[in-house]
Amino acid sequence: MPGYILEANHLVKQYGALTAVNDVSFAVEEGEIFGLLGPNGAGKSTAIAILSGLFPPTSGGAAIGGLDVVHNLAKVKQIIGVVPQDLALYPTLSGRENVRFFGELYGLRGKGLQTRVDEVLGYVGMQERANDRVQTYSGGMKRRINLAAGLVNHPRLLFLDEPTVGVDPQSRNHIFESVARLNREQGMSILYTTHYMEEAERLCHRVGIIDRGKLIALDTPRRLIAALGGGIIQLGLATMDEAARAAIEALPAVRSATFATESTMKSAASRPAEVVMPVQANSKAVLKIEASHNNDALLQVLHYCNEADVEILSLDLLEPNLETVFLNLTGKSLRD
Ligand SMILES: Nc1ncnc2c1ncn2[C@@H]1O[C@H](COP(=O)(O)OP(=O)(O)OP(=O)(O)O)[C@@H](O)[C@H]1O
Ligand SMILES: [Mg+2]
Repeated sequence: MPGYILEANHLVKQYGALTAVNDVSFAVEEGEIFGLLGPNGAGKSTAIAILSGLFPPTSGGAAIGGLDVVHNLAKVKQIIGVVPQDLALYPTLSGRENVRFFGELYGLRGKGLQTRVDEVLGYVGMQERANDRVQTYSGGMKRRINLAAGLVNHPRLLFLDEPTVGVDPQSRNHIFESVARLNREQGMSILYTTHYMEEAERLCHRVGIIDRGKLIALDTPRRLIAALGGGIIQLGLATMDEAARAAIEALPAVRSATFATESTMKSAASRPAEVVMPVQANSKAVLKIEASHNNDALLQVLHYCNEADVEILSLDLLEPNLETVFLNLTGKSLRD
């Protein structure tokens, strides 16, 4: 049975009156990709800063590889790699020189250093541009060099804080594949923070959902989604008919019904699921119906619309996902 590479016990971080991390406990198994998923300001970076020894918690504690992070920091640093959210590169140096610099910080020298620098540059697919100055790189290339720097000391546990924010699709895919490969081929444990639920769903073995400093759910993406039971039905109506909305919300298999805002409509559109009827471009209002049971809700909604003579312009059934889980737990969208 694998042991835990990381254990966080009742971590608290207070900034004056603000509790940025509020009694957070979780453990990451050796060889696991663990996601911390939460919106802006949830406390993800603060948690990573504590866990990687940047500053101590106000209370609580953490161990990495069985070593206390506060009292054994020097040893802990030898087994972790940190890729911070904010880039920490020297713009006038080349990518290779930046990675070398981090290697030297870890005590690598000579041939060993050179070999390892080449290796990690290869890992992130940056050999070709490695000798150009960082200031000439795209945002995604800088992130890839940042990732290379975090890998230079062969970490057993890698902290990746929102590695794909502001990154072009090509670099994003590259970062994704590198992370999956490091885990698969080297068994590297990874703590990955993101506010993109698709990333967490695709990459992470387990996710902790964090909101306002609190860990509000922790499980595999599949189980978190299954626990929700239902999904979302999007109904295109001719008008924002409040009476229809209220009646639909009162149906037994329906949890809530709200007219969608533009942003929620967009995120739904980016994730097409099983389309029951084609979406019609002339839909005037989209009613977002959260179902506790998809099939029952669908039957009840159709029955109601038929009886009440509410004209349906379009109908979409969205499969439940981590975004729906978050919405259900907090009543708000991850990107609010
Ligand atoms: N140095 C600081 N001083 C005071 N408050 C801080 C400091 N750093 C962070 N905070 C606050 O702590 C809370 C958590 O911030 P944190 O950066 O950990 O969030 P996050 O989940 O990483 O967000 P994001 O997705 O935007 O990166 C926020 O309310 C933030 O304003
Ligand atoms: Mg952050």
